[in-house]
Amino acid sequence: MKTIESVKEMQAFSESMRIAGKKISLVPTMGYLHQGHLRLMEEGKKRGDCLVISIYVNPTQFGPGEDFEKYPRDFEKDEKLAGDVGVDVIFYPSNKEMYPEHYQTYVNVERVTQNLCGMSRPGHFRGVATVCMKLFNIVKPHIAIFGKKDFQQLVTIKRMVTDLNLDLKVIGLSTVREPDGLAMSSRNTYLKDAERESALSLSRALKFAKELYDNGERNAAKIIEGMQKFIERHPHTKIDYIKICDTTTLEDTEQLEGESVVALAVRIGLPRLIDNYVFGEPLDL
Ligand code: PAJ
Repeated sequence: MKTIESVKEMQAFSESMRIAGKKISLVPTMGYLHQGHLRLMEEGKKRGDCLVISIYVNPTQFGPGEDFEKYPRDFEKDEKLAGDVGVDVIFYPSNKEMYPEHYQTYVNVERVTQNLCGMSRPGHFRGVATVCMKLFNIVKPHIAIFGKKDFQQLVTIKRMVTDLNLDLKVIGLSTVREPDGLAMSSRNTYLKDAERESALSLSRALKFAKELYDNGERNAAKIIEGMQKFIERHPHTKIDYIKICDTTTLEDTEQLEGESVVALAVRIGLPRLIDNYVFGEPLDL
């Protein structure tokens, strides 16, 4: 496994792989790897001949007052975990390499980024789309793999790839959870012991929503209200949003017809956690 820090070197490496007829898969990450990331990497390994991951805490997707400086980082541990999964290259650029002086170009995916996390994190998806576009141009993958845990991010990237005719396939994989149901996240490390139990209210509220749906409930407001009451019973919780949306447009739905997703963001103490469930799919809790 090698680590490449320079854009030019990464591009040259990927070009040589393409010329040799190798299929490149890419898993973009911000590091501090956990089982969720590793699952994406295993899939990348299976689907391609050359697995590249990126580890880059992207400043343009963090808003003022968010946790960019505090975001957990442990490159040595990540290197070991990536090596064990069989990663071929870690692309590990600096900020200067990604956003050199005079940088001023951004990708704005419009409507799907406006609802949900877009409301409380303005500019976040512009940063995500921009860095992913750059990573696609640098790593030149045939396949890029993302987690459904960040559902709106996955929809945004798929939209961008379709709209801008990028020649790569985007794959979304199910959320990997802790044994008690908490969706794995690098940000779980922020949770204090007393908050850990309350953090379970997100996945449990999704389970509750699934049960209502499975029993025939199709009214979005009723499902949301039930989830809200359930979460509010837990200490340290402050709901940012609970919404039910169409999985393609991410616009709010009133009645659950077609494919719908329930997505929520909740502050547990300081950390803000997100989770979601696509109705009709399995939820292994
Ligand atoms: P990061 O939060 O490190 O996540 C990297 C990838 O892992 C994303 O596709 C995310 O959806 C996926 N992931 C995270 N937790 C997961 C879980 N519990 N189960 C399955 N997949 C999970 O998302 C980002 O980084 C950044 O926004 C990035 C796309 C790298 C752009 O900077």
